[in-house]
Amino acid sequence: MGKVRTLLACSSCGQQLAQWVGRCPGCGGWGTIEERAGGTAPSDVVLQTLEHDGAVERRVPTGFPGIDRVLGGGLVPASVALLAGEPGIGKSTLLLQLVANLSAAGLSCLLASGEESRGQVAARARRLGLAGDAVSFVAGRELGAVVDAVRASRPFLLAVDSIQTLRDPDAGQVPGGPAQVRSCADALIGLAKAQGFAVVLTGHVTKDGDLAGPRTLEHAVDVVLTFDGDPRSGLRMLTGGKNRFGAEGEVAWFEMTGTGLAEIDPTALLVAGRGEPGAATALPRAGRRALAVEVQALVAPTDGPPRRQVTGLDGRRFQLVAAVLERAGVRLGRADLYGASSGGVRIDDPACDLAVAAALVSAATQVAPPHGAAFIGEVGLTGLVRSAQAMEPRLAAARAAGVRTVFGPTVGDDGAGIRIVPVRHVRDALTWASRSESGHPT
Ligand code: TYD
Ligand code: MG
Repeated sequence: MGKVRTLLACSSCGQQLAQWVGRCPGCGGWGTIEERAGGTAPSDVVLQTLEHDGAVERRVPTGFPGIDRVLGGGLVPASVALLAGEPGIGKSTLLLQLVANLSAAGLSCLLASGEESRGQVAARARRLGLAGDAVSFVAGRELGAVVDAVRASRPFLLAVDSIQTLRDPDAGQVPGGPAQVRSCADALIGLAKAQGFAVVLTGHVTKDGDLAGPRTLEHAVDVVLTFDGDPRSGLRMLTGGKNRFGAEGEVAWFEMTGTGLAEIDPTALLVAGRGEPGAATALPRAGRRALAVEVQALVAPTDGPPRRQVTGLDGRRFQLVAAVLERAGVRLGRADLYGASSGGVRIDDPACDLAVAAALVSAATQVAPPHGAAFIGEVGLTGLVRSAQAMEPRLAAARAAGVRTVFGPTVGDDGAGIRIVPVRHVRDALTWASRSESGHPT
């Protein structure tokens, strides 16, 4: 006879618990733990306890300190991570380097690739100078073959490139479609949790950020890592999204070199302030931190239809800022306007508008912004500058980059060592340009 006892379980994920907690350790849901009315546990059912078995806290270094930080301290056994990014951004390269690092540390890894053949992956490993002999490989097109290979090799890590090329014959007809992607991922997630190995799945996202298939996986996996950057430049960022084991929003920076991805310190690469006309320092958010990034502009008079072209910047915001400046008396109309961010780092933070405005006015007047200045603020259609969120990390990034003056909406009482020039209207941030003999902004 089983004894009568009260069961606690999560109403959302079904996780069973021995005592009540506010937050479900299984799915992270708050207030979802409920009593399941005095059930009788049959004697042949073995209920596991939550006794600490030592494996829960284990973190395995990936060989990339930045990735460890994004993951919340390293790779967690029996966890499943999705590595999402546009085609060509470097997902396969990163995955291969990750697998090589772990293999070199003596952890067995199985790479399942449906994107490339064994020969192609081996050739890439050779080009990257990675030892391929420690890595097991299986063609990653058939779910069944991958599952068999996992059972046979019992790896520490299963790396799947990509989840879209994996096929489960029992789930729908559309390869890479939501039903296929979901079914294959579910099978691997179940196996990973049962056998205790870690999984990293790559997933292709489309240009507008829509993770067609893989997006549906976000709530099934433990960690979502987004890999992006400007494919034309070498700069890449790995951002931690959802993370069951750590903080969200951490960012690691890489450069794509001839021998694969090298981790870099972005502060050295992106810091501006060479005092050239046409450049201004912006302080965009990057996860929970912020960066000092140089925004550049070029104003080239033309007789033809004027062009507006950007790299790294948001094209629509760039045009809006240009139009607002025009209204404020800066003559930009009969000119081609180019905008760029240094290193091609993607800036879609509206609080960088004011730096874009400063770069454009500086380019038009050929007067450089004051030495050691940076700009924060979203520019509205009327020219009024809206306050920005996350001023603290922005000012911290400014301080680290040697910025001494920030033009921006007033913050609290002081900028802790940084002089804040209060800006209400975009004009207030451009007074330095009036010193020019040619072209006045107002
Ligand atoms: P890849 O990892 O194949 O991207 P994804 O899997 O996300 O589609 O790599 C994309 C690009 O990176 C490829 O076009 C060439 C470039 N690359 C380098 O510049 N250096 C290298 O060492 C490697 C392996 C790739
Ligand atoms: Mg690839």
